[in-house]
Amino acid sequence: MILKVARLGHPVIRTQALQVPVEQITTRDFQKLLDDMAETMREYMGVGLAGPQVHLPLRVAVLEVQAHPRYPDMPSVPLTFLINPTVTVLDQTTVDEWEGCLSIPEMRGLVPRYSKIRVQALGRNAEPLDFVATDFHARVVQHETDHLNGEVYLDRMRDMRTLAHLAEWQRYVLPALEHKD
Ligand code: NI
Repeated sequence: MILKVARLGHPVIRTQALQVPVEQITTRDFQKLLDDMAETMREYMGVGLAGPQVHLPLRVAVLEVQAHPRYPDMPSVPLTFLINPTVTVLDQTTVDEWEGCLSIPEMRGLVPRYSKIRVQALGRNAEPLDFVATDFHARVVQHETDHLNGEVYLDRMRDMRTLAHLAEWQRYVLPALEHKD
C-alpha cells in the first residue's frame, strides 16, 4: 500500500521520533509498515524514506539506491531497513552534493555530509546491523537519520542560495554537472 507522504510544514516532520520497541518489529502490523514504506519510496522514486515522512514518529527508515542507467558510476545500495539507528562519524571530512526530499517536493539544494560513518541499527527482522557507509551511501543514511530527529536537508545547507526548483536546477545546474564528468 502506498502511504501518504507528509510535507514540510506538517508538524510530524519536525518531531523527534521515538524508539521502536524491539518486540514490535516482528509483528505483522510493523512488517506491513516496512513493506508499505519500501513501496512508497519506490513509487515516488526516492532513495530513502523515514517514519515521520509517512506520519509515523518512529525511528525507522528505508533506503534503496538502484544503479541509474545514466549514472552507472552511482553506487547502488540494496534495500535496507534501519530501525533505531545510531550514526558515528568516522571521518570529519564533509562533501557537498545535491539533495532532494520527498517531503520538500521539486527542490534541490547543495548539502554537506560526512564522507564516512558507522551505522548501527536493527534490521527488518530485528537482527543487529553494524556497517560502515561511505560517500553517497553515507549521505543517504545521514539524510534519513536526520528525519528521525525532526531535521531536513535545508537545516544542513551552508548556502541557501544554492536552493533551486527542480525544473530550473535541471535546466541550469545539471548540464554543468554532466559537463564536468
Ligand atoms: Ni528526506
